[in-house]
Amino acid sequence: VIFDDSKEGSLHVAMEIATLIREKADKGQTCVLGLATGSSPIRVYEELVRMHKDEGLSFKNVVTFNLDEYYPMERNNIQSYHYFMHQHLFDHVDIPAANVNIPDGTVSADDLQDYCKDYERQIEAAGGLDFQLLGIGRTGHIGFNEPGSHFNSATRDITLDHITRVDAAPAFKGLENVPRKAITMGIGTIRKAKRIVLMAWGQNKSEIVKETVEGEISSEVPATYLQEHSNTTFVLDKEAAQNL
Ligand code: GLP
Repeated sequence: VIFDDSKEGSLHVAMEIATLIREKADKGQTCVLGLATGSSPIRVYEELVRMHKDEGLSFKNVVTFNLDEYYPMERNNIQSYHYFMHQHLFDHVDIPAANVNIPDGTVSADDLQDYCKDYERQIEAAGGLDFQLLGIGRTGHIGFNEPGSHFNSATRDITLDHITRVDAAPAFKGLENVPRKAITMGIGTIRKAKRIVLMAWGQNKSEIVKETVEGEISSEVPATYLQEHSNTTFVLDKEAAQNL
């Protein structure tokens, strides 16, 4: 779906999420959301916060699982995804703290594998992801599933691609400060979501959007795996869609 600009697209996505939350609440069910960070979803979160304040949209029945976190990373570090999510969404809505799950960048290296398995188990125990929000990196990553990621990969630690670290460098005030690793949900984890919406805005994303939508399915561009998911929508602005 192509919108005139990212604002229009973001409102559309926020509306879909709000409708799902309300439908689930009406049935007395929890709504399990997979959430993303980066600049792409910021307006969606802004709009959800507005709906909470102005329309009484409640997050009491919402359980969230974030896609990824840098590793190692302290929670209160302003570059952490933990900080980002609280700043843009969780601090402004009525979601119970116990319902918020974000990969923990402070687990010890020895505990990391068990921690990742447990994250995966918790998603399943919650009933699986009803909705997964995604952005896309210029390497074709979703979450931090960099080129080479397996179709069936689960939550795990991963080494970040050079391009990804270069893109993150301004936020970290220099490439040397960008962590080399991250914890990310896998492609397999994401593919199990009942509904997926990937958002991309701006000309900078137009090449990777074309490769993802029209290219051959390949681990070299992990986002191409979404072509095989039966309920995925790409929400784009005109600039991101210009090469399609
Ligand atoms: C990071 C995140 C991804 C995100 C990507 C794109 O690498 N791990 O989940 O999709 O950045 O970020 P942006 O939305 O800022 O372009």
